Amino acid sequence: MARVTASTSDIEKAADVLRAGGLVALPTETVYGLGANAEDPAAVARIFQAKGRPPSHPLIVHIAGAELLDDWVQDVPAPARLLAEHFWPGPLTLVLRRGSRVPLEATGGLETVAVRVPDHPVALELLSAFGGGITAPSANRFGSVSPTTADHVRAELGDAVDFVLDGGSCAVGVESTIVDATGDTPTILRPGGVTRESLQALWGGPLAAPSTSRVRVPGQHPSHYAPRARVVLVEPEQVVAEAELAQELGHQVGVLVPASVAHAQVKAHAVVAVSASMTDYAHKLYRILRELDQQGCDLIVASLPSEEGMGLAIANRLRRAAGPRPTV
Ligand code: TXA
Ligand code: MG
Repeated sequence: MARVTASTSDIEKAADVLRAGGLVALPTETVYGLGANAEDPAAVARIFQAKGRPPSHPLIVHIAGAELLDDWVQDVPAPARLLAEHFWPGPLTLVLRRGSRVPLEATGGLETVAVRVPDHPVALELLSAFGGGITAPSANRFGSVSPTTADHVRAELGDAVDFVLDGGSCAVGVESTIVDATGDTPTILRPGGVTRESLQALWGGPLAAPSTSRVRVPGQHPSHYAPRARVVLVEPEQVVAEAELAQELGHQVGVLVPASVAHAQVKAHAVVAVSASMTDYAHKLYRILRELDQQGCDLIVASLPSEEGMGLAIANRLRRAAGPRPTV
């Protein structure tokens, strides 16, 4: 059973590191975050250094409860209030007008700020012991796959992080859903752990759909969430043939075989049978991509699931993993 608690002394130590301007990796229900005191611009700057992330990319401020939202933002339109009260703690991030406590370093210079209340006991204990906001992007190097265990964090960031709080493996496994809630029509900027259907069911009014093709804000580049191996997306019924062909051509192929396809005999370097449950697939997705890298795959063949429920976030991450890579 995954560990979800941390000792009181570890929580106190982590809170002290934050107070001293250090970086703490913390578990959340989505992925691990790389946290700093949200009100300390120098500490926030260290996050960007540790990740190798351009400073124009805005971060998420994590807070201890929905009742604290007004301390961090200026206006809370009715839909934002409704969503916060219903979904927090939980994998929903709301973008609202920046309050004066939030330094521009944390928002990449934007006058809006992304805020969420994580649904993980260790994160909530740390937030209450620390007593302030913790700004935290996912605890991976810029552009790579987000960590869902403490070991992944150590492998990604090593000494760049001052303290790692281990809270077991993240239940949701993909990042939070980000909603721009500054206006009267909430807009999904990034699909994630709260499904579009559940947002729609609560918020009966218009809800703008996510765009998978446009780069809407900094930090939403097509090549985000990418393993080292190149990712190729094909139709579900072509996955096996494509994988075997690439393997014959000399690639070390990792293949994600959809639940709808028989896969007993696939001739590839690594074969992963994908769960028919999208919740389970999301929980495992980043771990699978990491393991295929570790097994030496240079090519990953996969297909997009149907974009319903958690399938939407999975398809979004797979598309980005398959997107064009920066040439550096
Ligand atoms: O589940 C999550 O959201 C995880 C955990 C650690 O909370 N965090 C996470 O952070 O995924 P990060 O930095 O990897 O992604 C946050 C994204 C940014 O890349 C950016 O696209 C968006 O949030 N964002 C942040 N502030 C924004 C703003 N003011 N306006 C629009 N988008 C913003
Ligand atoms: Mg990230």
